[in-house]
Amino acid sequence: MKQIGIIGSGAMGAGIAQVAAAAGHDVVIYDAREDALTTARDRLHETLGKLVAKGKMSASDSTALFGRIAWAGTLGALRDSDLVIEAIVEDEGVKKEVFRALSALVSDQAVIASNTSSLSVSALASACQKPERFLGLHFFNPAPLMPLVEVIPALQTDPGLPPRLKALMDQWGKRPVLARDTPGFIVNRIARPYYSESLRILEEGIATAPQIDRILKEEGGFRMGPFELMDFIGHDVNLAVTESVWRACHHEPRYQPSFTQRRLVDAGWLGRKSGRGFYDYREGTPAPDPEEIPASERTAVFERVLAMLINEAADAWYYRVADRDAIDLAMTMGVNYPKGLLRWADDWGISAVVTVLDRLFHYYHDPRYRCSPGLRQMSARSERFWPENDPDHG
Ligand code: NAI
Repeated sequence: MKQIGIIGSGAMGAGIAQVAAAAGHDVVIYDAREDALTTARDRLHETLGKLVAKGKMSASDSTALFGRIAWAGTLGALRDSDLVIEAIVEDEGVKKEVFRALSALVSDQAVIASNTSSLSVSALASACQKPERFLGLHFFNPAPLMPLVEVIPALQTDPGLPPRLKALMDQWGKRPVLARDTPGFIVNRIARPYYSESLRILEEGIATAPQIDRILKEEGGFRMGPFELMDFIGHDVNLAVTESVWRACHHEPRYQPSFTQRRLVDAGWLGRKSGRGFYDYREGTPAPDPEEIPASERTAVFERVLAMLINEAADAWYYRVADRDAIDLAMTMGVNYPKGLLRWADDWGISAVVTVLDRLFHYYHDPRYRCSPGLRQMSARSERFWPENDPDHG
């Protein structure tokens, strides 16, 4: 894999180009919009300048890295690429059109990958002339900083390809994990309850957004609370992923989108980027100071969200979306969780998690709270996901 082609010079494409060039590849990045290319080039120049100023990269390395990237306004420039990674708009029709044109252009040996967050990799592969040379390579934002890459073979992918791509990602300094082509793959599926359960708690009036944020950070060690994080990601983006996973899973109640978030999008309160979301980011607005809530209630909130996250992780494991190691690595390396959720289940006690879920199910009579068969089996057999005192656990 000498030359890497990238399609789309937005946040993800530009980040992946930087990673590939840092690993020594020649990179050609193509975008349909010239202004997007110019912006990406200026931004990368600025980023590299900052790294040099901070002493994190030498001036000569920075110049060499920048020089390895060619900026192209036509798809034809990717003709000689050995691997092309697509990072354009999350629209199946538009992506397929690009893959049809691209696969007619590149060599038979070239590999084509998509950075899609939520679309079916098998559906995208079907648009290629050689679907067996296609797979998903899902990076996390910002790509140069987040180590995780989900490697997702399509149904049609040549079985020899994922190990090759995993080895390449290792060379790029990434932590690749294998995921099955299922809605949301690993991270975007397992992380759903962090948002959806917190939104339910808010909608029930049990606690306010700042209170829930504080509890999850203080009790759980999460870097950002769920409402801060949704404001950061953008409610349009977060809601679109939720809706996509919900639809793809045939309206599974666990992934049901929230009206509260829908209304924020309707109002244009998209979060940080629009100046307003759950929080007010306009200048001069004081940071909220959430009222304390009693210790027992703090724990009950916290445990409800954590039990739902663990349930989702156990379900992904039970239905073979990924193996134990990949699931725990993905949540720590892709979204900075303080520890792997399966390890967390062991530490808390799997039967305690089952008890919380069963209590929620009996109280609400809502199928979203049904315990994963995987978790119930582990509890019945008094098993653990990880051996006790294993220093190498997730
Ligand atoms: P973005 O909107 O920042 O950039 C997309 C770029 O693609 C734009 O510069 C646009 O001009 C270009 N583009 C659109 N249609 C094109 C076409 N037909 N041909 C050539 N160029 C075209 O989007 P972003 O955030 O970089 O996302 C790109 C992809 O990566 C999406 O599939 C998204 O789901 C996925 N992704 C996004 C993450 C994020 O946090 N933003 C994280 C992981 C994956």
